[in-house]
Amino acid sequence: MISISFEKFSDQHCEKSALALFCDGANFIHDEYYQQLNNLLQGRLEKAVSMQEFNGVTGQSLQLIAPTDSIAQLHLIGCGAKDKSTVSDIIRLQHAGSDAFQALRETKIKNAKAYFIIPQTLAEQSASIALGARLKAYNFSLYQSDKKEIYPQEISILLPQNASLTQIEAQWAEFEALSEGVYLARNLVSEPANVLYPESFRARIEALEPLGLEIDVLDRAAMASLGFGALLGVAQGSNKPPYTVIIRYQGATDKDEAPLAFIGKGVTFDSGGISIKPAAGMEDMKTDMGGAAAVVGLMSVLARRKAKINAIGVVGLVENMVSGDAQRPGDVVKSYSGLTIEVQNTDAEGRLVLADLLSYTKDKYAPSLMVNLATLTGAIVVALGTDYAGLFSNDSTLSTELKQAGEKAGEKLWPMPMGESYNRRIDSDIADMKNIGGRPGSSILAAEFLKRFVGDTSWAHLDIAGTAWCDKAGPCIPKGASGFGVQLLNQFVADREH
Ligand code: BES
Ligand code: ZN
Ligand code: ZN
Repeated sequence: MISISFEKFSDQHCEKSALALFCDGANFIHDEYYQQLNNLLQGRLEKAVSMQEFNGVTGQSLQLIAPTDSIAQLHLIGCGAKDKSTVSDIIRLQHAGSDAFQALRETKIKNAKAYFIIPQTLAEQSASIALGARLKAYNFSLYQSDKKEIYPQEISILLPQNASLTQIEAQWAEFEALSEGVYLARNLVSEPANVLYPESFRARIEALEPLGLEIDVLDRAAMASLGFGALLGVAQGSNKPPYTVIIRYQGATDKDEAPLAFIGKGVTFDSGGISIKPAAGMEDMKTDMGGAAAVVGLMSVLARRKAKINAIGVVGLVENMVSGDAQRPGDVVKSYSGLTIEVQNTDAEGRLVLADLLSYTKDKYAPSLMVNLATLTGAIVVALGTDYAGLFSNDSTLSTELKQAGEKAGEKLWPMPMGESYNRRIDSDIADMKNIGGRPGSSILAAEFLKRFVGDTSWAHLDIAGTAWCDKAGPCIPKGASGFGVQLLNQFVADREH
């Protein structure tokens, strides 16, 4: 993980340095650091700025390699709002931090410390710039013998003399906790399924106990005696034993305050089961535990930043495989709630796992609300692509709060419809319901299925099948696992803390 520190700007930082100067819209030419550097470069900075038509909006950057004997490289990074920008200030600055990191990386500085120069007006938001750089700097090279090191590995954020370092460092401590949770979620999603299976996933969660989290585990026998027939049906084709892991965090002053509950689909590999998936792309199904990864990442953030709230995370860890013992299409299983399910398609397994988790969490922990995250349907990828996750809820206030948290945190949600006529489509001829109901609107049918297990509890379901994994890099995200959900839910929790 790259290291980030904060210090006050001084002239000597301009010696043998890789510098990134943040430019806030067109006004940057009046900024004292810009002027100081322009003087040092004898006016050539101004010339470059006008030749390149650089005007300081996000997404723009300008680079000068070895512009003086003392400066190794200098980047101007735009962080000003574009006209009619819909992105919040904080996200804009995160993106600029990510752009600066990327610019420095592409010019291949090795073993050099980089300096980000933050002008006066941006001192307060400098922690957001640092967060953007940290999130962009993630890489997963555990299994490459020729490891691609990430440079720069050290960034120092240079602040104006009148900035309050203590305030900024306190803000950074919160963001650092957040970045660690996002990294944790990304690591879990990136791991191949022969390394990360229910038991090893459980062990990684247990390793978080020292942060101040209480971990309870339900093994196969415990789940069988509770009657988790829906979850266990999914697990029965695999040699890997399933687990439900409950992560408890108590940070509220009133320890008896009802917790917020976050529930994650943790299918460590989804072959489809007997309703087997096509070979092409099946390798991506190692990411089918992205919901559980986000829940674990989130719980780690809450503990690290000592959030003043009670929360529980519940993840169902199973592998969906094919074998002589595997569940068959047409099987009927009995869920923890008592409701019976005709499993018409063994590849619609996520909802079966979540069904037991949702009703168990509701009964056992009486949470004030439940939010579940799941890579649940291919259809949500068709509907929303990779920019928005699907948001389904039985509570319009909760839905609005989540959507707003997503906008603030840069992990966007789009509200999807629900309703009785959809719900009727999963009625079964032989059981209380079936787990599929035809292709049209099938993401909604999956949500309607879950809804049957939440009772009157305020509930939302985030279908993150399109957002958990990125085929190409985006702002603050390298190609691969995004950790989607950690930032959004941390924001959602933070908004409820005060
Ligand atoms: N894990 C998949 C959904 C998925 C698809 C996640 C693409 C990430 C990327 C889920 O278990 C699944 O297979 N869903 C089926 C449901 C269908 C059988 C009703 C689907 O979406 O095709
Ligand atoms: Zn599936
Ligand atoms: Zn799945």
